[in-house]
Amino acid sequence: MLIFDNKESLTNFLRPLQSLNKTTGFVPTMGALHDGHLSLIKNSLDKNHVTVVSIFVNPTQFNNVEDLEKYPRTLEADVKKIKQISTQVLVYAPTVSDIYQEKTSSSSFSFDGLENQMEGKHRPGHFDGVGTIVKKLFEIVNPTNAYFGEKDFQQLQIVKKLVEKEKMNVEIIGCPIFREANGLAMSSRNERLSKSAREQSSFIYKTLQAVQADFKKKSLTELNEFVKNAFSEHPEFSLEYFEIAEESTLLPALEKDKTKKYRAFIAIFIENIRLIDNISLN
Ligand code: PAJ
Repeated sequence: MLIFDNKESLTNFLRPLQSLNKTTGFVPTMGALHDGHLSLIKNSLDKNHVTVVSIFVNPTQFNNVEDLEKYPRTLEADVKKIKQISTQVLVYAPTVSDIYQEKTSSSSFSFDGLENQMEGKHRPGHFDGVGTIVKKLFEIVNPTNAYFGEKDFQQLQIVKKLVEKEKMNVEIIGCPIFREANGLAMSSRNERLSKSAREQSSFIYKTLQAVQADFKKKSLTELNEFVKNAFSEHPEFSLEYFEIAEESTLLPALEKDKTKKYRAFIAIFIENIRLIDNISLN
């Protein structure tokens, strides 16, 4: 399997293939790969001649130094996991200086307000960091198709907006959330949870499923109250936000409009670790 640690070697390898019209599927990641990431890679392998997976813990999207420092870095294990699905994948694992050269900072973007909701509110600068790295990676990889998980639904919508605004020629493909057997959405951060917190965290998805089941019959206020009450009975959790929002704008739903698609979004702390999840409601 080929592993590239700088953009010149990757582009030298890719461009001749791309000039022969070979399609390139791209899966950007921050490593610590789990089955959720691997499902994106499988989707790309199915649909493209060439698949590139980037592994880069992007400093500019972390608004919390401790979170950045504690983020798992497990390149060797990641490569092993990718090899188990295919040895044909090209891995791009650059250094910070290969990506950022002289200064490690983000550009600022407008994503038509998508960046001001939920994660954007609670993680200032996060989506500028995501926009910056995704744009840089797209310029390097020049993908035909790029795969993003619905686990980070707001990020997925923001990347679609980035491509539209920057007029980039890449198809963004959203992939379903992969879950542990108990329902907890897979995340690199789950590794930091104790065994009991990991079990307790199945309550997050159970609660979202209850919201989904009651979406038609309960009012939005009742659903919001239900979630707040549910978590107030579980002091191991600290709820950061719960929101029912419209999928395309991510604005909080004020009414249920049958012509619109809604999703419930949650961010919650357990053992000081921040977990996010979401579910489609209609
Ligand atoms: P990371 O958290 O490593 O996620 C990489 C991709 O995997 C994202 O598109 C994410 O939505 C997807 N993913 C994570 N957990 C998933 C799950 N349980 N099911 C399905 N897909 C899942 O997201 C990032 O990295 C970064 O912000 C990045 C886009 C790489 C930019 O730095």
